[in-house]
Amino acid sequence: MFKVVSVVTALLVAFALVATVQPGAPEPPKFKSENERRIWVLSTLLPWMEQFRERYHNVPRSDGEFLRWLVIATQRKRALEIGTANGYSAIWIGLGLEATGGHLTTIEIQPDLVREAKANLKRAGLLDKVVTVVEGDALKVVPQLDGKFDFAFIDVGPKVMPFFEAVLPKLSDNAIVAVHRPPFEGALKDYLKAMSEKPEWVTTVVQTGAPTGIVLSARIKTR
Ligand SMILES: C[S@@+](CC[C@H](N)C(=O)[O-])C[C@H]1O[C@@H](n2cnc3c(N)ncnc32)[C@H](O)[C@@H]1O
Repeated sequence: MFKVVSVVTALLVAFALVATVQPGAPEPPKFKSENERRIWVLSTLLPWMEQFRERYHNVPRSDGEFLRWLVIATQRKRALEIGTANGYSAIWIGLGLEATGGHLTTIEIQPDLVREAKANLKRAGLLDKVVTVVEGDALKVVPQLDGKFDFAFIDVGPKVMPFFEAVLPKLSDNAIVAVHRPPFEGALKDYLKAMSEKPEWVTTVVQTGAPTGIVLSARIKTR
């Protein structure tokens, strides 16, 4: 009887692993340099993940490239992401933070996605060194985080305002908030209206060429 229970348990564990770990993932070879690793991430790992973009609701590659550029151009150091999924955008932001010497904390509510994100970030060579994945409801996790963040990327679908409100007390004076806008008519209308009524935030929508957009807000000093 004990043997049967053990075999069934082992089969269930194996099934759970197969169901949550993406088959066929490219594994990193031995790199001669950090630059070689980054080239592999850009040319092999990220394109492999892009095949599954719709399943995980990842940002398009052009939005990922833009997020990396933004982090570098504005020299962000402490970043927060809400909505990790399998870690695709976290890898782009992480690549930016590698260049600035910064760190990303990314929050995901679904445990199976947290596992996948950690596996992908590990392949990218970013896990724990540059990116920390936190499992939980961002509305509960964010208030418990220490310190201030100078960059926040919110990517949890159309209901953004509760997440923005949760992040607000944790933002530095020079913070930038980026929100991913889904590609449907009127998406984020309420958020855009709310931000337009806040004089301490300057907001614009950046269209990278993808049907989605990124709503960017920079905090300014008001007199
Ligand atoms: C659009 S996907 C994120 C895609 C990801 N940013 C990317 O581009 O690779 C949204 C994710 O937010 C997660 N999510 C939804 N509500 C959440 C919450 N309250 N706290 C943390 N994560 C949440 C979902 O489970 C989902 O994986």
